[in-house]
Amino acid sequence: MKRIKSLGYDVVFDNELDELQSFLIDHDYSQLLILVDRNTNDHCLPILQSFIPDIVDYDIIEVDPGEENKNIDFCIGVWKTMLDFGADRKALMLNLGGGVVTDMGGFAASTYKRGIDFIHIPTTLLSQVDASVGGKTGIDLDNVKNIIGTFTQPQAVFISTKFLETLDDRQIRSGFAEIIKHGLIQDKALFDRCMQVSLPNIPEEMVYDSVQVKNKVVLEDPTEKGLRKILNFGHTVGHAVEGYSLYHDQNPLLHGEAIAIGMICEAYISHKENNLSESALDTIVNYLKGIYPAYAIHSEIFPDLIELMRNDKKNESNKLGFALLKDIGNCEYNKYVEEDLITASLAYYNEVIK
Ligand code: GLY
Repeated sequence: MKRIKSLGYDVVFDNELDELQSFLIDHDYSQLLILVDRNTNDHCLPILQSFIPDIVDYDIIEVDPGEENKNIDFCIGVWKTMLDFGADRKALMLNLGGGVVTDMGGFAASTYKRGIDFIHIPTTLLSQVDASVGGKTGIDLDNVKNIIGTFTQPQAVFISTKFLETLDDRQIRSGFAEIIKHGLIQDKALFDRCMQVSLPNIPEEMVYDSVQVKNKVVLEDPTEKGLRKILNFGHTVGHAVEGYSLYHDQNPLLHGEAIAIGMICEAYISHKENNLSESALDTIVNYLKGIYPAYAIHSEIFPDLIELMRNDKKNESNKLGFALLKDIGNCEYNKYVEEDLITASLAYYNEVIK
């Protein structure tokens, strides 16, 4: 078992989740609510139950899977169900799922009766290495990602790589994009190791190492006043593409697939604006385009994407703020970029994927 101390709570890495049952018994919560989606209800809840055989008294709240459901309507459904179950302020919400469940469950718990405790048991690679750590909770508003939310820390995060066995390759690849990002922004050795990985087989220690990178950043800047903005590398363009895809594609891009596109565009901007060398740009772009599907972005939608970027939380006044690489393993924040260069980066993406 390994653990990482985060902002007042532990992230516990243990495939059998040995500490979970005693955590639940010792804390003497009035009630246990388990938030799942249809997939985690079917595939992950039985695994969870096998980890906590003595805990038999709980209520299940189920939401529909998918980013398109991470919205206020589903959140109202969660709050109403909590009320129907008679949850009081001493209840605990256990969020069992990917980023949609941990983000929305954290948000629902942090606002219900002015806040009840919650823990995360992330079941996707994406939520294990990113969403479940650092205290961001939230929902989307139309196609603007995570625009409503709070910074509220969980009581604990329990990570078992056993849940990853329930995922398909596409989901693993999607989560892997955040590990690559952690390497690119802070840890060149981690990025080099990423390039050796034969997908979808992710070495277990990479999950831990990736959380270490994220945790170091959030400990220094819990509420994203400065350094934490580097975690948004790839996300200014990536969130816009993801939001657009969510509303226009029959089979929308997964988060990590959109972030891979965003990382290509933002590496290009880093090269043009922040002295990222051409060879580093080539290394990043060749690697990413080798493992993520090409997604042609029609030039007619560039203005829509820029508009989506304007709604991003990372902006101040009317300027579009980016986290840009200086080198592999070194990222800077509060870099304000002209629209023309963002448009050029989208055109560059279309060219390199040909
Ligand atoms: N996913 C970026 C952050 O937690 O700050």
